[in-house]
Amino acid sequence: MTDRYAVVGNPVLHSKSPAIHTAFAKATGEDIYYGMIEAPVDGFRAAADAFRESGGRGLNVTTPFKLDAFAMATHPSERAQLAGAVNAMKFDGDRMLAENFDGIGLVNDIEINLGYPLRGKRILLMGAGGAARGALLPFLERQPAMLHIVNRTPEKAASLAREYSGRGCISGDGYEALHGERFDIIVNATSASQRGETPALPKSVFGDGSLAYELVYGKGLTPFLRCASEAGVARVADGAGMLVEQAAEAFLWWRGVRPDTRALIEQLTVPLV
Ligand code: ATR
Repeated sequence: MTDRYAVVGNPVLHSKSPAIHTAFAKATGEDIYYGMIEAPVDGFRAAADAFRESGGRGLNVTTPFKLDAFAMATHPSERAQLAGAVNAMKFDGDRMLAENFDGIGLVNDIEINLGYPLRGKRILLMGAGGAARGALLPFLERQPAMLHIVNRTPEKAASLAREYSGRGCISGDGYEALHGERFDIIVNATSASQRGETPALPKSVFGDGSLAYELVYGKGLTPFLRCASEAGVARVADGAGMLVEQAAEAFLWWRGVRPDTRALIEQLTVPLV
């Protein structure tokens, strides 16, 4: 029998998850159907319950439901607990297992696809909201020389750094304090690019060999990436690879087989010009 999965969000029509998982299923020979569910903003639990009770096997969860999914899960992983957010669920009888693959998707894209190993590197993470939080543990597990969080509201960055201080070399502050500092990998996890805004990042953070990574995908050269490019970084990238990599992790978790990601990433990548 065909196993059913879906992505839940609001809005959800823009989601590339159905196309990605359908392509994975075709490539691996797995018999699944993957749909999409637009739940009312206060209706995640009802939508997820209805899907589960009708035999659905698992869900991807996108904005604005990642916290609701965490609250609903009976068995959240450590990653999901630390992120306080969930982007994938698996249903097994009454058990609702929950995971957060966003961070590992980002790390896999940077290390494997883009070829920038994180161990011993200086990483700058911009933003202290949900997207940034999800990346902290996967980054620290790679043992960078340092992970510095920078945020418009400096106290939020400092408080996040304190929370994770037992897990590696991590610090947090505002943009002002960045002058004179240089980083190997600079990741924009703020929501600024969604609105065409630019965080107040000094150009001195970018070095010749640096990688500048924008979590948002499909928007071409965002103000952040343009700034990095003008500063002469070695490489700019957006989140298309992260999107496909987190989907591959979810597919592996659900089906026990890891699909190849390269062809799909190439297909989804919008030229950064
Ligand atoms: P998400 O779930 O996408 O991370 P969020 O939790 O609302 O969204 O967090 C948004 C992040 O982007 C925050 O770190 C926010 O900074 P503040 O904590 O100071 O609000 C950051 N952000 C949004 N717009 C920004 C801008 N124009 N410049 C710098 N940072 C910005």
